[in-house]
Amino acid sequence: MTNSNPALTSVDSLYQKVFENNKKWVANKTANDPDFFEKLSRDQRPEFLYIGCSDSRVPANEIMGLEPGEVFVHRNIANVVPTVDVNVHSVIQYAVNALGVKHIIVCGHYGCGGVKAALLQEDMGKLNMWLRNIRDVYRIHRKELNAIEDMEARTNRLVELNVQEQCINVIKTSFVQKSFAKNQYPIVHGWVYDLKNGVLKDLEIDFPSILANIQEIYKIA
Ligand code: CO
Repeated sequence: MTNSNPALTSVDSLYQKVFENNKKWVANKTANDPDFFEKLSRDQRPEFLYIGCSDSRVPANEIMGLEPGEVFVHRNIANVVPTVDVNVHSVIQYAVNALGVKHIIVCGHYGCGGVKAALLQEDMGKLNMWLRNIRDVYRIHRKELNAIEDMEARTNRLVELNVQEQCINVIKTSFVQKSFAKNQYPIVHGWVYDLKNGVLKDLEIDFPSILANIQEIYKIA
């Protein structure tokens, strides 16, 4: 037992187990490579920035089969990139300018609770403001979405369109535009993860043409 916090009771067995799991994980990582953590602690050079949903069922490293150090991660409800969100834009700036990531991925997932909530006409307090980002996507694509009768299919299409629009928000940033002009990276990708079978789908957004299209308005020299 590694944690003797008196506030913990027997109902907290999962909490206690986390520290046991961690010990096992450390042992596992160092079994074949005793310097694993020493090497990792020196620097990070991830090739990917992953912007995904906070949903506990979509763990970035695991679904991509990547080790610690290989992917820089930002997660929030329904993987959105709002214009005035200092958090996500700080992450993008650091990933592009300091880490030099080659790829930026916006990854949504079918069955996303945030996207489902945005389709309801309910007052959800503080969440209203956050979900408005997704409702804005709905407004832009209202015609296509309203033509889909089945609510699950409509939600899942909004998941895809939300990923596309958030990719555009990433491409609008000066960091991405300037780095791409100079280095031909990062490339922005839109993915959707399927909770029901674990499969990742690349939406194959046309990054060069989206970039060219938005630069008429969003280019900052
Ligand atoms: Co979600």
